[in-house]
Amino acid sequence: MSSIYSVPRGVFKQRQASPFLRLCALLATAPALYAATTAQLPDGPGKQVTIRICGTCHSPERAASLHQTRRQWEATISKMVSMGARGTDDELNAVLEYLSKNFPPAPAKPVDINTASAVDMESSLLLLRSEAAAVIQYRTEHGNFKSLDDLRKVPGLDFQKIEKNKDRIVF
Ligand code: HEC
Repeated sequence: MSSIYSVPRGVFKQRQASPFLRLCALLATAPALYAATTAQLPDGPGKQVTIRICGTCHSPERAASLHQTRRQWEATISKMVSMGARGTDDELNAVLEYLSKNFPPAPAKPVDINTASAVDMESSLLLLRSEAAAVIQYRTEHGNFKSLDDLRKVPGLDFQKIEKNKDRIVF
């Protein structure tokens, strides 16, 4: 029977894990069985096979610790297969379906431009350190920003970065 999932067969290359990783997998089996019985994962198709395949070396929760796109989940699963995770293509596809449905990319958090720290602005708006400092200096001297346009006045700030993220900036 051909797979009902859209991932082509053989997409998860089965490579032999290094002896070290196989040993790790072996040693990790006992605690993982315990983890499997207590897994805190959302119910849904593919949950049991995910716990079985992805809970042998680390907890299944760790396997589901990321929020990412289907392509990225595919890459994660391929990486795990290269490290020794084992399953048929159908099983791995079921894992992929389960993880991409239940752990999609997290929506980007809003940034309050009047309270955000320099680090927040650097990481979530990709401002340079000097730009984040300029925003903070400007709001310290002039009071809170009230609109996007106010940010045009900040010297040394590339307004395009603000414009690009305008849906996430709150005042
Ligand atoms: C053969 C052992 C093994 C199995 C089975 C396994 N993993 Fe992993 N996994 C690892 C190891 C070792 C790490 C730590 C790797 C590192 O730090 O680079 C890891 C780390 C992770 C991480 C943390 C982020 C990362 O990329 O390092 C995620 C997510 C993950 N595994 C998902 C999964 C999923 C999903 C499955 C089931 C398809 C799975 N794992 C099955 C060995 C395994």
